[in-house]
Amino acid sequence: MSLQAILYTSSPPALQILDQLKLPHESVYVPIRTCEDAYDAIKRMVVRGAPAIAIVAALALAVELGSGGGPSSKDKESAGHARAYVHGQLDYLVQSRPTAVNLADAAGKLKAVVNAEAGSAETVVGRYVEAAEKMLVDDVKDNENIGRFGAEWILGNAKVGEGEVKGRVAVLTHCNTGSLATAGYGTALGIIRSLHSGSNLTHTYCTETRPYNQGSRLTAFELVHDKIPATLITDSMASSLMSLKSIAAVIVGADRVAANGDTANKIGTYQLAIVAKYHGAKFVVAAPTTSIDMKTASGKDIVIEHRPGKEVTNVGTVATAARGINVYNPSFDVTPKDLIDAIATEKGVAVKNAAGDFDLSRFF
Ligand code: MRU
Repeated sequence: MSLQAILYTSSPPALQILDQLKLPHESVYVPIRTCEDAYDAIKRMVVRGAPAIAIVAALALAVELGSGGGPSSKDKESAGHARAYVHGQLDYLVQSRPTAVNLADAAGKLKAVVNAEAGSAETVVGRYVEAAEKMLVDDVKDNENIGRFGAEWILGNAKVGEGEVKGRVAVLTHCNTGSLATAGYGTALGIIRSLHSGSNLTHTYCTETRPYNQGSRLTAFELVHDKIPATLITDSMASSLMSLKSIAAVIVGADRVAANGDTANKIGTYQLAIVAKYHGAKFVVAAPTTSIDMKTASGKDIVIEHRPGKEVTNVGTVATAARGINVYNPSFDVTPKDLIDAIATEKGVAVKNAAGDFDLSRFF
């Protein structure tokens, strides 16, 4: 049984999420009954990971609408009121975390769905719930396709070191991009799953991913749970590891891919891309097309979320830094497209042309 970050049942809609702040020690599900619950859970990172955030927000509004709670009787009076309510709640949810584009993308698509529904308030709500539920189902299928395409690309393109067998690779990953960050299967971790199920994986190295430890708390948990051969390293060990062991590819997820391919992902991704280039390992971004933002021209235009200094000065509740020290805590960094070899999506793998440019418009 694979791990599930999001538990959802329809009729009546009910949503629970795995509290990722308690992992790996405790597996506790918490109910999400309103958009306020979802906003708070996303902001505090009870749920995190770009696709998971978008789906939880979308389903929270479905629950709110379907449970008879949420909208006042005025909002149920007419289709216009129902549409305005949906727009307002989505605009609110989008503000919870700024860097991952999936939530804004989902909100835009869901607004278009309710705008296109010409019937009563009830049918507007019905169409909304149906579309939000479809996002949950589609995400797993998309991740399986990312996994398949990404694994094929790595096997076809990664260098084969001396004494190594073609078709058997070791990889390094950063942050958590698995079942816990998505509706299931995962993106970068989906590629690793696909390599493993095809008997093409020799080993996975996962970084601790300071300051929030998504690697040691969540990715390591998933890898152990799914019995995928893996070793945890601290973020500072990546260069040393790659100088001593043959790593075919560094595989990471994305919070926002700009139109030119520059990619915002968990802080520490950029330095791994530099290390990968130096050691001749492929650097692969795994992302659903919902993470590609064609409206953002390049990485310079991506807003980077800064998080509380406590995430750096403390590990969990234990203070590890000198009291009074200043803290710099950007949650994400931007890897320039020049350092990225491939962007694996559910629609196929994008690589750069001879001029060094990605053409991501072909996916839309
Ligand atoms: O701050 P987080 O834990 O939400 O950051 C998550 C990441 O950076 C992931 O790599 C990204 O969201 C892709 S998840 C499939």
